[in-house]
Formats: sequence, structure tokens, C-alpha cells
Amino acid sequence: MARISIFAALYGASTVLGLELPNGVGRLPALGWNSWNAYFCDVDQSKIMQAANAMVDLGFKDAGYEYVVLDDCWSEQGGRDPVTSRLVPNTTKFPDGMSGTADQVHDLGLKYGMYSSAGTMTCGRYPGSLGYEMIDAETFAAWGVDYLKYDNCFPSPEWIDDCFACNGDPNFDSVGKVNGSCTDETPVTSYYSWNNTSPFCAYEFPVDGVNYTAKYTALKFKIMERALLAQNRTILYSLCEWGVDQVWTWGNATGSSWRMSNDIGFGDASWSRILEILNVNSFLLDWTDFWGRNDPDMLEVGNGLSLEQEHSHFALWALMKGPLLMGTDLTNLTQTQISILQNKYLLAFNQDPIIGKPARPYKWGINPDYTFNSTHPAMYWSGASSNGTMVALLNPTNETMMMSAVYAEIPQLDAGKSYPVTEVWSGESVGCKSDSVEAEVAAHDTAVFLFGEACS
Ligand SMILES: *[C@@H]1O[C@H](CO)[C@@H](O)[C@H](O)[C@H]1NC(C)=O
Ligand SMILES: *[C@@H]1O[C@H](CO)[C@@H](O)[C@H](O)[C@H]1NC(C)=O
Ligand SMILES: *[C@@H]1O[C@H](CO)[C@@H](O)[C@H](O)[C@H]1NC(C)=O
Ligand SMILES: *[C@@H]1O[C@H](CO)[C@@H](O)[C@H](O)[C@H]1NC(C)=O
Ligand SMILES: *[C@@H]1O[C@H](CO)[C@@H](O)[C@H](O)[C@H]1NC(C)=O
Ligand SMILES: *[C@@H]1O[C@H](CO)[C@@H](O)[C@H](O)[C@H]1NC(C)=O
Ligand SMILES: *[C@@H]1O[C@H](CO)[C@@H](O)[C@H](O)[C@H]1NC(C)=O
Ligand SMILES: *[C@@H]1O[C@H](CO)[C@@H](O)[C@H](O)[C@H]1NC(C)=O
Ligand SMILES: *[C@@H]1O[C@H](CO)[C@@H](O)[C@H](O)[C@H]1NC(C)=O
Ligand SMILES: *[C@@H]1O[C@H](CO)[C@@H](O)[C@H](O)[C@H]1NC(C)=O
Repeated sequence: MARISIFAALYGASTVLGLELPNGVGRLPALGWNSWNAYFCDVDQSKIMQAANAMVDLGFKDAGYEYVVLDDCWSEQGGRDPVTSRLVPNTTKFPDGMSGTADQVHDLGLKYGMYSSAGTMTCGRYPGSLGYEMIDAETFAAWGVDYLKYDNCFPSPEWIDDCFACNGDPNFDSVGKVNGSCTDETPVTSYYSWNNTSPFCAYEFPVDGVNYTAKYTALKFKIMERALLAQNRTILYSLCEWGVDQVWTWGNATGSSWRMSNDIGFGDASWSRILEILNVNSFLLDWTDFWGRNDPDMLEVGNGLSLEQEHSHFALWALMKGPLLMGTDLTNLTQTQISILQNKYLLAFNQDPIIGKPARPYKWGINPDYTFNSTHPAMYWSGASSNGTMVALLNPTNETMMMSAVYAEIPQLDAGKSYPVTEVWSGESVGCKSDSVEAEVAAHDTAVFLFGEACS
């Protein structure tokens, strides 16, 4: 189901003019840090400020990282201010409130981001923004917020689209539609709940041929975009609706980035999720360009991956031109992890001001080209940049492999020419090479080479 939809989507791609914010905000992928993958709900002002200070002290700010984003669980759980209807920060966790925290982040020369959900509650069951979009956008602007991550938990029933596939769930019919037609949008009032006491659809797949731009999910996210745009403050808008309703077909007209999949996993689960997300996103890269991009979710570097896995995760996330939001206790990173996250070749590729398109697979490797496979995604990637062609060779297997970047296979290179090659992890020049470059790639590792202007 997912496979068919993704292929249909790939070939149906066309340019959709998108959100362009003032001063180039959102033109390139956001770089920063977000509290979720490090702390989940256990977040407070000292952790936010520790991350902000570490971004400066450890050189992340100088490398281009800019946003410090507070994720879920920051407000009072009980509800909104009874008089103003504003969200209320929990001052036990945030003694200086949100504007005080924002000021301190701004004083470091960084930007401040926050979180809400297009539902009655956030995923952590704090008050959500559905129905309060304008008040919340005004409040975020008044606090000095520069970035909003907007989640999709707890939509109230009248805002749920009745048109998605939910394979294997007995509450849904065989083509995956819930009680009816995909073209006739009927509010669903009974079946869907996140409280586990009524039917729960764990995975939603789009149904081919549906115009999801006209559906409730797109509308919900559009309403918050309009509310943010109505403010006298530039607020980067990051959609987090997990790829439902083919968000890539309408995300560019709505926000600066959109999650194209469910969450990246944690701990032991995250490597397999990295491969799964990479596989899905490899079929969606037509939708990434300047001003709008697929978001393969935040980084897990520092959270228990191996060195090789961290190489692969960071390199491919940078090359797919997703936002790069670190998600760990920065003060606990090793020097090697810091140098991965600050790799100047990969960051420059991600932030290229001249070329907006991401790298793409030019060959799948073990599997035939265009095979949709969650454990063996495309292994051979290339992309053009202002400084030459970047090539990445991913080894998803559990054994060391010899892998070759063969010029004749790489669309950006000329088989008859030689190129100066830089090994991207070490920054070492390998010299002027012809025909191909070989690498011994350890299990789960990725070799990355930058090919400069032809030397002969
Ligand atoms: C997204 O919108 C921007 C700004 O209008 C445009 O430059 C870009 O090409 C669009 N992206 C895609 C993938 O169509
Ligand atoms: C505020 O946060 C503290 C510390 O986590 C918690 O004990 C308290 O219940 C929270 N208050 C509200 C109103 O949510
Ligand atoms: C579908 O509609 C029928 C009849 O209106 C109703 O009894 C049933 O509960 C609905 N099923 C779902 C999953 O909403
Ligand atoms: C669970 O959700 C259903 C449907 O929204 C609602 O009727 C029910 O009261 C909820 N149950 C609990 C325990 O929250
Ligand atoms: C999809 O719906 C949107 C919003 O209603 C509309 O602007 C657009 O033209 C529709 N696209 C197609 C292909 O019908
Ligand atoms: C908008 O913000 C700018 C910069 O903070 C300020 O100079 C300007 O007066 C504001 N405009 C309005 C209409 O509030
Ligand atoms: C810091 O890193 C060490 C070793 O990787 C780990 O055991 C520890 O749990 C980490 N601490 C935090 C706060 O992340
Ligand atoms: C190109 O190289 C220059 C000089 O090293 C660097 O400043 C710039 O960021 C690089 N740009 C890209 C897209 O690699
Ligand atoms: C994915 O590809 C590998 C390698 O070819 C193969 O062994 C595996 O069966 C494939 N998985 C599926 C679900 O097809
Ligand atoms: C690699 O090893 C892990 C753990 O033993 C296993 O689950 C996984 O399927 C293996 N992956 C491949 C590509 O063989």
C-alpha cells in the first residue's frame, strides 16, 4: 500500500510554490537542537540553557547551528489561562517563563523554538492549539519565539480525515477507507481515539488518487500557518504530522519542513528506523528543494548508536537536505561525535545557497534499483553542490564490504575525466583519481567523497 502510493507520488511530482519567509528564513534546512530525543517530557529551563550554552561553547553555533527548540511538556497541564485563554508555562520547570527563556537564548545569538500540537492536547497531554491557533501564534510571537514545531496528536474527531488505509485493523474496511468514500469528506465522530479504549489506527497509509490538500489535516496545518503569518514576527513553521495524507504534496505550500514518516526510534530501535526512514524518503526526494523539505526526523547522534551508524545517520540526513536538529545532551558528546555533527563538507552540502536539491540514490546496490526495502535501502548516493559532487556509499549489512564509486554510474561525473577527491570524514585529499574510487566500508558505515572540478 505504502509502496504503491509512494511510487504514484514520485511520478506525479510537480512544483508547488511554497512558503517564503522574510530574510531567507526557511530557505535552507534548519540547523539546531531540540529537547525531545534527549529528555522527552523531562525538560526544564536549565536543560534548555545548558544546550544553548553548549551550542556556543562547543562550536556548534560557529558551525551554523542556530535554533534551540523546546519540545513538548512545557506548559501547565491543567489548562489555559481562564481570562486570556493563553497557554501558561509551568514556572516550576521554567522559572523565567517562556519570554525569559527566549531572551536568554537570544542573548547567546541563537534563535528560540517551541512546540504545540494541532489537536486538543499535545502528545504529552498538555493543552493543544486546535481552535486556539490565533491566540497561540500571538502568544508565541509575544514571547519571542522564532520556530514552531507543530505536532498532530489528539485531533478532535471532526478534524480527522476519513480517508486513509489502516491495514489489518478490523475496524477498517478492505481498501482501508473508514465507513465510506475518500472523495466525500464526512467527519468521523466515533472510531478514532488515542486513548486505547476505542479502535486505534497505528499506521495510516494514503489512498491513491485522493487530493489530500483538500482534507482536514492539511487545513488544520494551514490554519496555524495563517496564524503565524499574521504575526509581526518571522516564525519558522515545522510540520510534524508523520507523513500522513501525503504531506509532501501540500507541505511546501504550508510550512518550511514536514516530517515524512513516524518518529525515529530510540536506543536499539533507532538504527532500524534510520534505514526504514531512509528507504521511504529516498522515494520522496522530488519534494525537497529551497524553502520546503521532507523532514526525516531529528538526529539521534549521541544516543547510543555506534560510530559507524552515527556516520551513516548524519551523512544521509545532511545529504537528503533535511533539517538537522540534534537531540542529545551536548555536554556529553565525545570529540568524535562533535566532529561528525560539525563536519564542514556535509553541513556545507546541506546548507548550499546555490543548489537546493538533495542528493539521491544513483544505484540501490544489493537490491535492484527502485526496490522499496526497509532493511536494505539504496546504498549509492550522489548529489551536486557548489563545490562539486558529493558521493556517499552506505553499507547497511552486518559485514564489511568493498564499495566503489564508479564514475560511469554517477550522473554528475564524466567517466572519461579525473577528479580531485576529498575523503569527507577525515578531510584528507586523496588526489586526482580516474574511473572509480574504492572504499572498504565497515558494517553500518558510510563512506563519503567530494569530487571537485575535473583535474584532467
Ligand atoms: C517549494 O516552494 C519554493 C518557494 O516557492 C520553490 O522555490 C520550490 O521549488 C518548491 N519546492 C518544490 C519541491 O516544488
Ligand atoms: C509543573 O511541573 C512540576 C515539575 O515537573 C510538576 O510537579 C507540576 O505538577 C507541574 N504543574 C502543572 C500545573 O502542570
Ligand atoms: C460505520 O458506520 C456504521 C453505521 O453507521 C457504524 O455502526 C459503525 O460503528 C461505523 N464504523 C466505524 C469504524 O466508524
Ligand atoms: C476514549 O475516547 C472515546 C472517543 O473519543 C471517548 O468516548 C471515551 O470517553 C474516551 N475514554 C477515556 C477513558 O478517556
Ligand atoms: C486539491 O485541492 C486544493 C484545495 O481545495 C485545490 O486548490 C487543488 O486545485 C486540488 N488539486 C487537484 C489536482 O484537484
Ligand atoms: C513589527 O516589528 C518591528 C520590529 O520588531 C517593529 O519595528 C514594528 O513597529 C512592528 N510593527 C507593528 C505593526 O507592530
Ligand atoms: C553520557 O555518556 C555516557 C557514555 O556514553 C552514558 O553512559 C551516560 O548515560 C550519558 N549521560 C547522559 C546524561 O546522557
Ligand atoms: C565550498 O567551499 C567553500 C570554501 O571551502 C566553503 O566556504 C563553502 O561552504 C563550500 N560550499 C559548499 C556548498 O560545499
Ligand atoms: C530486503 O532486501 C534484502 C536483500 O536483498 C532481502 O534479503 C530481504 O528479503 C528484503 N526484504 C523484503 C521485505 O523484501
Ligand atoms: C544485522 O544484525 C541484526 C542483529 O543481529 C539483525 O537483526 C539484522 O537483521 C541484520 N541485518 C542485516 C542487513 O542482515
